Amino acid sequence: MVELLPSILSADFARLADEVAAAERGGGTVIHVDVMDGHFVPNITIGPPVVQSLRKATKLPLDCHLMIENPDEYIPAFAEAGANWLSVHYEACRHLHRSLELIAHHGMKPGVVLNPATRVDLIIDILPMVHHVLIMSVNPGFGGQQFIPFSLDKIRRLAELRQDLGLTYRIEVDGGVAHDTVAQIVQAGAELLVAGNAVFGAAHAERDARALLAAAREAASQT
Ligand code: DX5
Ligand code: ZN
Repeated sequence: MVELLPSILSADFARLADEVAAAERGGGTVIHVDVMDGHFVPNITIGPPVVQSLRKATKLPLDCHLMIENPDEYIPAFAEAGANWLSVHYEACRHLHRSLELIAHHGMKPGVVLNPATRVDLIIDILPMVHHVLIMSVNPGFGGQQFIPFSLDKIRRLAELRQDLGLTYRIEVDGGVAHDTVAQIVQAGAELLVAGNAVFGAAHAERDARALLAAAREAASQT
């Protein structure tokens, strides 16, 4: 089933609880939280204290996307703060298998993230361990960038592998998900749609979330 994951990166951080509530009224079912350290990506955002506050502000699951070096060091802190899903980058993990085990051990749903330049087939062996695979369809670090078209092939490949291997991981896409791209993204097989700018960019989160989700569902019904 197609779900919308509003990314708070483009929200007004001074009004975070209201922004999240508006996105939820518009149909968002999981809140996507971008954690950046200024090393793995050229931007700095938020960490466990904000996750802890968000945990009190919404009942929706929190999907934390770690764009940081040495993610293993921070996994316990995110669990304690109330993260429900936690994803780490293939490119940031020296021992990805160990990192995914650590996430599961702390009671969170493990996810792996691939940068645009990283091939899907590199993660075949760990696919049985993950709850979700996140395809970055922009280079991570900033909201409001253009969707990279070859991401569609990566989504299709993941859907094909899931079928061939008899697995159940969910396919998430992050970056440039907007009105003009969402139909092809859904039709390629993505079901967890992260959207920052398209939801929060115009200060009408409820309206814009609802419209994007409607477009996504419309495309899903045509597949
Ligand atoms: C980018 C982040 C995304 C970002 C997407 O590094 O991982 O979650 O919020 O922003 P949009 O939807 O504006 O492309
Ligand atoms: Zn993200």
